[in-house]
Amino acid sequence: MTTDMTTDMTTGTTGPQRHRTSPPSWLVEVAREAGLEVPAAVTRLQGRNENQLTHPATAGGDSFLVKRLVGPGATDRFARSLGHARLVQHGDSAGSGAPELVHADHGRGVLVHRAVPGATSGNRLLVEERFTPALCAQVGHTVGRLHAIDPAGLPAEGLPRRGPTLPTERALRALPLGAVHLMTAGEVDAWRILQSDDSLAAAVRRLRGSSAAAPRTWTHGDLRIDQVLVADDRTAVVDWEEFGLGDPAFDTGSWVGEWVYRAVLDIPTARGDGIGAEEHDGVLRHRSLTPEEIVRRGVAKLDALAPQVTAFWTAYRAEAPVDADLAARTAAYAGWHLLDRLLALAHGKAVLPGVPRAAAGVGKRLLANPAGAAEALGLHHDAAGPEVAA
Ligand SMILES: Nc1ncnc2c1ncn2[C@@H]1O[C@H](COP(=O)(O)OP(=O)(O)O)[C@@H](O)[C@H]1O
Ligand SMILES: [Mg+2]
Repeated sequence: MTTDMTTDMTTGTTGPQRHRTSPPSWLVEVAREAGLEVPAAVTRLQGRNENQLTHPATAGGDSFLVKRLVGPGATDRFARSLGHARLVQHGDSAGSGAPELVHADHGRGVLVHRAVPGATSGNRLLVEERFTPALCAQVGHTVGRLHAIDPAGLPAEGLPRRGPTLPTERALRALPLGAVHLMTAGEVDAWRILQSDDSLAAAVRRLRGSSAAAPRTWTHGDLRIDQVLVADDRTAVVDWEEFGLGDPAFDTGSWVGEWVYRAVLDIPTARGDGIGAEEHDGVLRHRSLTPEEIVRRGVAKLDALAPQVTAFWTAYRAEAPVDADLAARTAAYAGWHLLDRLLALAHGKAVLPGVPRAAAGVGKRLLANPAGAAEALGLHHDAAGPEVAA
């Protein structure tokens, strides 16, 4: 059996549409009520919400990212974002790496953050192989400092609970018929990949158990690389809509999972380690890889990204209290992250592409043996870990 690798999914998401328009009326009203200058123009940025980057009307005026939260759970996401802003006001260290919230309009569900001038999305840097170990170390410090904050300092009351970070037992066994009717063939396929494997359900159950027993910390809750902006070699972590108390391993695992996912996406390309296979424009076309080739190339691609993972982990451990089981839970959540990406990618698709299928296979292996996977990923839990040059 071979896996189809003729997909062009190697470049990740497309960039924001750099298109200036006049500000929508709701934004003008928000700016006036907040006492901010009405912008001359806005650029709409991609995201799950309506995001507008403002262009100041006067020289030297400020630029803001104005975000109108829309879609499922918008009210809760608004409240959680405010929870994070309160934490930033409360303590000193939590704010590092997040753009300042300058105004919140409850009625309209609008948040106004200071824009990061000249920011590039972490996702873009990743695709261009410019997300360096030094940048990963900054993210590690930021996340570590967040996790190090005493949760007792800011009460969690009033903060809406987040949805479950793992699928329910039921969803792993079978989907209700009603849900299946609403799914595309790609989505049904993705769920079948998850449900066809009894050991996966057991692994998810184990992770749920160890997570429940873990110490709670404040967490970002949606730590993907596109939530990191980079300007002048400084990182800023944005999108605190899933902020809340949780297992710190969910954040560290999501981050590590992003890199493992990248390595799998790189399998058919020359990216990462410069080794391509019959490539054309950096992407393998018109040929399928054998399972053996996939594993061999996957290991090589992950090796190429190991400095990034190590830099994050080393910086993180310098800031946060690390429990003995954190490395293994991190590996397990990294595994789940890959399966989660599979589900997200399957959304609305008629056919499930080959590369995320391969990623799901890797994800299952991480979940099946988290301690071994942590070791393989270089996530050491001893106090004196390897030193990393920033
Ligand atoms: N403070 C900021 N300055 C500049 N760009 C930002 C800022 N915050 C977010 N962005 C950009 O806006 C878009 C959406 O941001 P995000 O907060 O993740 O919202 P969403 O939840 O809608 O994805 C992304 O392209 C992100 O890079
Ligand atoms: Mg986002």
